[in-house]
Amino acid sequence: MFQNDAGKVLFTHQTHTEEYYLDCLDCHHNIYDDETYNCSDCHEETGDDYMPSRMDAFHETCSGCHADYGAGPVECSACHVL
Ligand code: HEC
Ligand code: HEC
Ligand code: HEC
Ligand code: HEC
Repeated sequence: MFQNDAGKVLFTHQTHTEEYYLDCLDCHHNIYDDETYNCSDCHEETGDDYMPSRMDAFHETCSGCHADYGAGPVECSACHVL
């Protein structure tokens, strides 16, 4: 569960990896090695020209894939539900 000002977002990590047949590296894009680090280790609240903010990194990854697959929420209120 991601806590944030826009409304909590429930992310089902296990469902995404086991039922939607996604590869770890679809999300854990990796720039140094093949480890799966937390996004927030690198993407902080405020981004810059090189490093997207935490919010931008999540929106692009989550909503981007949902739009590409035509499955999963893309409306604000469908993710920020609580
Ligand atoms: C649909 C996207 C997605 C997929 C696919 C995915 N992850 Fe994640 N994973 C995340 C997100 C988002 C987080 C939470 C990141 C944060 O809070 O900064 C996370 C967190 C983690 C963490 C926690 C890291 C920590 O230090 O607490 C591990 C470990 C992890 N994932 C491993 C994996 C592995 C292994 C796979 C493949 C079996 C995988 N992930 C597939 C999105 C994904
Ligand atoms: C080890 C550091 C690191 C981790 C961990 C990391 N990122 Fe990134 N990310 C970067 C850097 C650096 C960039 C900018 C350079 C680039 O695009 O490669 C970036 C760029 C991005 C972009 C923009 C890509 C583009 O082509 O415009 C997205 C989206 C993104 N990250 C999402 C995520 C998500 C989601 C996670 C966690 C599942 C994550 N990142 C974990 C370092 C990291
Ligand atoms: C690489 C593709 C991909 C990424 C990245 C991804 N998703 Fe999904 N997501 C899916 C697919 C496929 C579904 C299944 C939709 C269906 O079957 O109706 C889904 C469904 C969902 C659902 C509704 C069902 C459920 O499992 O809860 C939510 C909520 C959701 N995603 C949130 C997120 C969030 C938040 C992120 C980013 C942290 C994210 N997703 C990243 C592919 C992705
Ligand atoms: C696919 C799911 C998803 C969709 C769709 C989505 N968001 Fe988000 N949003 C997230 C996630 C995940 C975060 C990161 C939460 C975190 O950093 O803990 C986030 C973060 C945010 C934040 C940052 C809040 C803070 O406390 O910093 C804002 C503002 C926001 N979203 C607004 C929106 C708006 C407006 C829309 C519609 C245009 C939208 N979101 C659509 C998943 C989504």
